[in-house]
Amino acid sequence: MIIKTAEFICSNTQVSKLPPAVLPEYAFIGRSNVGKSSLINMLTNKKGLAKTSQTPGKTQLINHFLINDNWYIVDLPGYGYARISKSKKEDWNKFIRTYLDKRESLQCVFVLIDSRVEPQKIDLEFCNWLGEKGLSFSLIFTKADKQSRVKTDQTVSAFKKALLATFDDVPTIFITSAELQSGREEVLNFVGSVNDQ
Ligand code: GTP
Ligand code: MG
Repeated sequence: MIIKTAEFICSNTQVSKLPPAVLPEYAFIGRSNVGKSSLINMLTNKKGLAKTSQTPGKTQLINHFLINDNWYIVDLPGYGYARISKSKKEDWNKFIRTYLDKRESLQCVFVLIDSRVEPQKIDLEFCNWLGEKGLSFSLIFTKADKQSRVKTDQTVSAFKKALLATFDDVPTIFITSAELQSGREEVLNFVGSVNDQ
């Protein structure tokens, strides 16, 4: 898929204020600092489109970006960020989960996983929750430039194995690097194929 236009539409903390659910949308979620916003900039080829930071907890709202005037990318806050209050964490959890559970136009949730770390409980629990809700999801292993392909493949295998404890099969998997712009075509072609269905 070729991206001709990518524009920021709105940021929200309330599900009731989201844009009308009339276009297909794809949400990007994962632990804080895993590279969600960087990946969105890489996919759209627009450096400053989604705000990125070295400090975890940068994205705190639901951000809609309109792509080619006919589908949305949604940048979500990261989960598992230690340095926020418990009540804020609970608010966030409720709000994001309501969004994911109720958003009728949501086609797929991209769950981003750091390709350098062994399976994390929080990521597996989140995937299990998506499975329980019957939501389609794919996995994107990020920051692949930071280590060898062999190490990344080990992380992917370990995660697949952990998922198979609760799922019958594994979802579609992508390996990306925002730094090297790798994995871009694969993710965009996947979106294109789902949009065409
Ligand atoms: P929150 O919004 O805080 O949840 O973070 P996020 O998941 O949106 O991460 P963000 O895109 O802001 O990136 C976090 C840090 O990781 C930044 O310093 C990025 O430059 C770096 N980063 C993201 N993707 C890559 C990548 O593919 N390779 C490398 N080397 N660094 C990356
Ligand atoms: Mg972010």
